[in-house]
Amino acid sequence: MGLSVILNFMNNIILVGFMGTGKSVVGKLLAKKLSRDFVELDDMIEAKEKMPIKDIFEKKGELYFRQVEREVVKEASRLANKVISAGGGAIVDEENFKNLKSSGTIICLKASPETILKRTKNIKTRPLLNVSDPEKQIEELLKKRESYYNKADFSLETDGFNPEQVAQKIIDNRDVLLRCNIIKNNEL
Ligand code: S3P
Repeated sequence: MGLSVILNFMNNIILVGFMGTGKSVVGKLLAKKLSRDFVELDDMIEAKEKMPIKDIFEKKGELYFRQVEREVVKEASRLANKVISAGGGAIVDEENFKNLKSSGTIICLKASPETILKRTKNIKTRPLLNVSDPEKQIEELLKKRESYYNKADFSLETDGFNPEQVAQKIIDNRDVLLRCNIIKNNEL
């Protein structure tokens, strides 16, 4: 197999990061800008289970959700040329991280706990934040997950930027474009 064929197999752009960092909105904009399909892993999970994530957590529990998430990550990692948005807890799992890493470039969107709280507080579809003290939960989960998010190939602070600006920042990053095989070394 030629090198370019191998590179095309693993040229997905995978957005990871905590809930409320903008993965889905940014991912859709990025996909449009790059003329790629957008794949939302949470949507794949809901389609597979035929129920919203909130109900999967309630009826079957988080462990079951993580099992389905693992299957979906495996399926998505076989795709090529996509922009993929992974749920906030996906790369905490070692197997998921390996699968996603082998399928492309992982970009982590980051935000402060205050921004995350502001962006998520009126949305009740996230079971992990549907708790009596979401602020504390965000801080604790962020701390627990920090080292996993730091394994991404690139990280981007989203505080103070709108989704359009974040998507543009990704596209303007020459290192990202090179790594994703969107431009070649001798271009620009
Ligand atoms: C989760 C994040 C959610 C969803 C599920 C669990 C997490 O996705 O997968 O509620 O563990 O952080 P988003 O990050 O897209 O909200």
